[in-house]
Amino acid sequence: MARDLADTIGARLKGRFEAVRARSLALAAPFSPEDLAAQAMADASPGKWHLAHPTWFWETFLLKAFASGHTPFDPRFNYLFNSYYEAIGPRQARPERGLITRPGLGAVLAYRAYVDTAVTRWFDEADAGALEAARGVIETGIAHEEQHQELFLTDMKYLLSRAAWREAGFPAALKPDAAGPAPALEWVAFGGGVFRFGHEGGGFAFDNEGPAHDAVLTPFALASRPVTNGEFLNFIEDGGYRQARHWLSDGWALIQSQGRAAPLYWTKGGAGWSEFTLHGEQPLDLQAPVSHVDYFEASAYAAWTGARLPEEREWEHAARGVDPASARRTDAAGWLHPAPPPSRTGLAGLFGEVWEWTRSAYAPYPGYRADDGAIGEYNAKFMCGQFVLRGGSALTPPGHVRATYRNFFPPGAQWQMTGLRLARDL
Ligand code: AVJ
Ligand code: FE
Repeated sequence: MARDLADTIGARLKGRFEAVRARSLALAAPFSPEDLAAQAMADASPGKWHLAHPTWFWETFLLKAFASGHTPFDPRFNYLFNSYYEAIGPRQARPERGLITRPGLGAVLAYRAYVDTAVTRWFDEADAGALEAARGVIETGIAHEEQHQELFLTDMKYLLSRAAWREAGFPAALKPDAAGPAPALEWVAFGGGVFRFGHEGGGFAFDNEGPAHDAVLTPFALASRPVTNGEFLNFIEDGGYRQARHWLSDGWALIQSQGRAAPLYWTKGGAGWSEFTLHGEQPLDLQAPVSHVDYFEASAYAAWTGARLPEEREWEHAARGVDPASARRTDAAGWLHPAPPPSRTGLAGLFGEVWEWTRSAYAPYPGYRADDGAIGEYNAKFMCGQFVLRGGSALTPPGHVRATYRNFFPPGAQWQMTGLRLARDL
């Protein structure tokens, strides 16, 4: 590789590294050290942990592997901030991350600054060969920190929702102007055939998005937009949570045991339904996409309408021609909640309002092989008992997703910004 080409690639990667690191701090800025230390449930990590763990990822997978002579900031952090990498060693149990009162926030911020300085220096000294060798890890490190930015927001939202005062995390004055009623639901038809799926060609993708392969689709239709709060409310008012016939058996058992009768964060008060958001308690917007439903609620809603959830390949096929950059850009200064997608012909709101549950089990594509070594644990070992979600949410960092992107969560998870789009057979 020519020196100036290496310089350009290096400068671009370094710029993206600096931007993603700064964005994590910007999202955390409204919160106090106490906010950032608490853990509200086993699935949700403290905000402080979400600042420390991606830092550990950079130190472990870039600095220790590629920067000769790197001195760890504090070797004990390897135990505290390793998330799940068995190949790297033992770690703090996930449900006990809230017990990490030491190091304090100040030390975690110093850890971030130390690693930022070391990575920046590495960029400044890296030759073409080093950049080429580390490029995959750097791209993964950027995408990884972006994933933790979204998890930071979902986990802080859950924490705020459990506090007696239920205060806003972010200013509430920023709701986008009402775009008018949600566009009428239309069905967009697709023919069957053999099509190409999965990531191929240039640009970064996670390993679980490949290899590219052919698969068969039979004719189907997708709804032109996600299901709205108003539509989901009709399901509730029709007794949807009280009629076993709509529900998968595991889901029926779960809603009984938890006493669920609505999506997470919905409350019915004297003035009607409201919803807890990162901007505090808000009147339920009947036109906005429903969010914080789990797989079972999505599946029951679809069954109640006589439709079904999409297959992940149906969703991907439909999304091929749609630019992910068409999504509303949300940020620390934006509306961190689903909004009605703009009315348009074809498919609206595919990217960036709610993650859409598919009925596809999260499993390897034909020919998939995880990377060797610890980083091979990133996605592969979770391919059991979870479902694929597509599209991205109002909390997903700009530029993070694409048509082939596969998110995944267990079917009972409500705390992510998850909704649904209907599909049916033709
Ligand atoms: C893809 C969102 C399910 O939450 O564990 C973060 C993202 N992977 N660090 C998760 C992830 C490694 C992952 N999800
Ligand atoms: Fe992680």
